[in-house]
Amino acid sequence: MPCQFSVLASSRFVDRRRISIMIPLVLFSGAVFLFFMPFNSWGKSSSYSLDLSLKIHEIEVVAEFPHDPDAFTQGLLYAGNDTLYESTGLNGKSSVRKVALRTGKVEVIQHMDYSYFGEGLTLLGDRLYQVAWLTNTGFTYDLHNLSKVKPFKHYMKDGWGLATDGEVLFGSDGTSTLYRMDPKTMKVTDKHTVRYNGRKVRYLNELEYINKEVWANVWQSDCIARISPKDGSLLGWILLPKLSQGLLKSGHRGIDVLNGIAWDSDKQRLFVTGKLWPKLYQIKLKPASEKREKQIERQCLV
Ligand SMILES: *[C@@H]1O[C@H](CO)[C@@H](O)[C@H](O)[C@H]1NC(C)=O
Ligand SMILES: *[C@@H]1O[C@H](CO)[C@@H](O)[C@H](O)[C@H]1NC(C)=O
Repeated sequence: MPCQFSVLASSRFVDRRRISIMIPLVLFSGAVFLFFMPFNSWGKSSSYSLDLSLKIHEIEVVAEFPHDPDAFTQGLLYAGNDTLYESTGLNGKSSVRKVALRTGKVEVIQHMDYSYFGEGLTLLGDRLYQVAWLTNTGFTYDLHNLSKVKPFKHYMKDGWGLATDGEVLFGSDGTSTLYRMDPKTMKVTDKHTVRYNGRKVRYLNELEYINKEVWANVWQSDCIARISPKDGSLLGWILLPKLSQGLLKSGHRGIDVLNGIAWDSDKQRLFVTGKLWPKLYQIKLKPASEKREKQIERQCLV
């Protein structure tokens, strides 16, 4: 709107009557616009386009939401309408749950048998796929009521993370291997070893498919690895130590590691949380200073 006004005013054939009508009109519509803008979005954008051309990013917190501090988060995904699905671990506390983003409230929950330790979760069509720790048995659930559909067998060494591009499944098993699997048979159709500067990136954990990349939490680190699903090459790192440090500083001593990435592709919102974290964060990437590159082998390769 300010542009429109300056174009008019600088025009050589200024029509004074039009301007005198335009000024109050511009001011009024500007006021209306500001009035209806949500207060919490002033001064910061709630969504943004990812700039993934850089190799190393740090983060900035855009918003904080409550998260069940008893949820040992193992899988996380965003499914539209401010709704998350989450898989939790620990024997006796494992579950799949539908969670309201804004309140953190668990809306539907399916508890797992004591013998299972829930791990990664992904959504394909209206089926949730979940893997479990120390077993090659996984489960599928109905998206709406979380009723169990049927178990499956997979061929990874263990079940840690799952993600999908809408056609195939990507999986991790705690090693440096990224698997590609056929969701109908769970057969491995491709796999790659992920390396950084020649060293294996072990403990690939929770996975998320974002902008044609697979993002992986590296267990016991505050790092997310960006991996090419085509050849397993490492595309970049996201460094997030300030989240757990912030929680510890504010007295949340019982927290475990960073884990859980969810992506809202419609609104380009990126969410992360951790095991037993009382908060879930909407974050934004920002370029990291050059010297961070030297710390990556120490911080991210555990
Ligand atoms: C979105 O979520 C709200 C609150 O949980 C619910 O009432 C509404 O029916 C949902 N809308 C859709 C389209 O699922
Ligand atoms: C869950 O929903 C599916 C359809 O989406 C239905 O077939 C099934 O009976 C429902 N299960 C329960 C326990 O309500």
